[in-house]
Amino acid sequence: MDDNELNTSANPSFDSVLGARLSRRSLLRGGVGTAATAVLGSWSVAACGGGNDDDTPAPAPLATLGFAAVAKSTADVLTVPAGYSASVLFALGDPLDAATAAFRNDGSDTDFERRVGDHHDGMFFFGLSANGTRDDNAGERGLLALNHEALTDNFLHAAGSSARPRPAAESDKEIPAHGIAVVEIAKSSGAFAYRAGSAFNRRITPLTAIELAGPARGNALMKTRYSPAGTGCRGTINNCGSGRTPWGTYLSGEENWSGYFFRGAADDAARADKSVASLNRYGRAQGAASRHGWETSGAEDRFARWDISKTGASADGSDDYRNEMNTFGWVVELDPYDNSATVKKRSALGRFAHESADFGRLVAGQPLAVYMGDDSRGEYIYKFVSAANWDAADAKAANRIAAGDKYLDAGKLYVAKFDADGSGQWIELTIANAAIAGYAGYAFADQADVLVNARLAADAVGATKMDRPEWCAVHPGTGEIYYTLTNNSNRRLQPSGSGQQALDAANPRAYLDPEATTGTASNLNGHIIRIKESGGAGAATAFRWDVYLFGSQANGDPALVNLSGLTADQDFSSPDGLWFSRNTGLCWIQTDDGAYTDATNCMMLAGVPGSVGDGAKTTLSYPLSGGGSVTVDTYVGRKPSADALRRFLVGPKDCEITGVTETPDGKALFVNIQHPGETIAAADVADPGKYLSHWPGNTGYGAGGATARPRSATVVITKNDGGRIGS
Ligand code: FEO
Ligand code: CA
Ligand code: CA
Repeated sequence: MDDNELNTSANPSFDSVLGARLSRRSLLRGGVGTAATAVLGSWSVAACGGGNDDDTPAPAPLATLGFAAVAKSTADVLTVPAGYSASVLFALGDPLDAATAAFRNDGSDTDFERRVGDHHDGMFFFGLSANGTRDDNAGERGLLALNHEALTDNFLHAAGSSARPRPAAESDKEIPAHGIAVVEIAKSSGAFAYRAGSAFNRRITPLTAIELAGPARGNALMKTRYSPAGTGCRGTINNCGSGRTPWGTYLSGEENWSGYFFRGAADDAARADKSVASLNRYGRAQGAASRHGWETSGAEDRFARWDISKTGASADGSDDYRNEMNTFGWVVELDPYDNSATVKKRSALGRFAHESADFGRLVAGQPLAVYMGDDSRGEYIYKFVSAANWDAADAKAANRIAAGDKYLDAGKLYVAKFDADGSGQWIELTIANAAIAGYAGYAFADQADVLVNARLAADAVGATKMDRPEWCAVHPGTGEIYYTLTNNSNRRLQPSGSGQQALDAANPRAYLDPEATTGTASNLNGHIIRIKESGGAGAATAFRWDVYLFGSQANGDPALVNLSGLTADQDFSSPDGLWFSRNTGLCWIQTDDGAYTDATNCMMLAGVPGSVGDGAKTTLSYPLSGGGSVTVDTYVGRKPSADALRRFLVGPKDCEITGVTETPDGKALFVNIQHPGETIAAADVADPGKYLSHWPGNTGYGAGGATARPRSATVVITKNDGGRIGS
């Protein structure tokens, strides 16, 4: 989804200095093709699943691709390979209880706290036995937990969104259309369908009571009028990537939450304290308009809380919402199997624009590692290492939230620094670090302050500014960690302003679109970096890295842009969702793109990755228009063969593909289609001829038919012969 430009800290350009250097060296064109041949071996499924103790990484993937590549397309349809079928399970507005009316999809619907929300995003499947208990092997019945990141707000209202001050009735639809949903699905007559009346169905919204857990619970920074003790908060918002814990709960990452808040044009002076530096670093300058203007809908608390100006007389913020934004930006944990279980925000994992959270290899008696990214231009890659050592018995814990308390409330938070020689370091973010304790940009009070302001702490230690870290996922065979870096319009050959980043070894590209004749070079198409922990241990503080794939058009310059040698069956731009099948070992890559959309809608690809070091060091040398060049060394993974990367799916118009999960047998794959046709002006809502998409109404799903308002939706994909997906 939309990116922000927040990291204007001056510090860590030393990465760039190390990695990229101005020179007059000539272009090197020979380095890419020297990739080592990967050693292929068998990869045991038993060696990868949650809860096992295997610590001997197998080097090679199990699967090869067994489908014909789908061609790029700009049609308003969802395309899957020959021999596969896709159908909509549920979409925006579908009722989640028997008392709620069917969705009319004409802007008149209300009660979104009892309906499927908007902008489906990260998602995981949780199996249910026939009698409705947790069953990790169940393939006929289960729960899908999924995020509802944002809104196509104009389509929620009959005539589009109204101007500010926003009518309360409109805000009361928009607010609960965000959050998280738990939806029961089951096979009926051989095909999956959702159960509208299931007692498991649940919505978590920006109004749901949530507990703060971990070191920031009760901290001075968390006190609000809603929770003067700083122990609770109200709701979750802009939930993007997600995760599944080894003990069977769902993790949801709060991403672009800061934009929903407003603070007055004189708030800096009213505060006159260090909170101003924190607010600015996290994207809330005084006077900037909020995303939807909910704070303008009335004096009621559910609206007033979006104005975070300091208005109260208290010293601690317990009489206003000056600290409200500190209660967002966390990983949220919920138990999909238990509607009564407390939902918690896990503050030990740090506060930033979260995407997914994935666990490293589980080793009994060793700490757990949780990998995470911060999606804004120039932000960082993080990992959390638990204080508690893994006990495999906890995979079946009866009290799953208590297991979360055990592993996710105490530990160490690290940020990544990528070095030019292909190595890297995890730097602990601790108040005991002199660079943090003495940081000139912000006076940290305690460890909770370090976690609440993780971005500032990462600035202080000189972490590497990345090209928008989106999802991460751990390869079940090798244990290596893959991160999508979706793109970065601020990555520059020659930075000229604050907030721009120079090339470095791990973010080595800046270029123009092949069809462009003018413009500023940047990382248009993104890449996927991967990390091999030293000794394979989650608690390691050193790693090796290379780039699994560089996004590119197939006609991109092979020496500077299309470094992975992508063909027309493989080319993609802006990787975002990323997930490994525990069944096939396939790496699923989803896109949220605006750079290649002249040729194709967003897509999903399947890959068979090798491992870190299977390619070669490569020198890139970009000629400058004024003479000279910018040269940077990077590490390019083995180029994918036609059998090792193929496009599997192309979505309808103006959508993003995000969120992917499967049944344990690998025979049903669930994918989210987010915001088809999201580009619509309020004035054009009355004219279906102006809609960019009518999906999925144009497939016969729901009301509206060929002129329907488009809807975000969850689809199920099966192979017509009943086999495993992708292989
Ligand atoms: Fe919500 Fe960074 O994608
Ligand atoms: Ca995303
Ligand atoms: Ca192009």
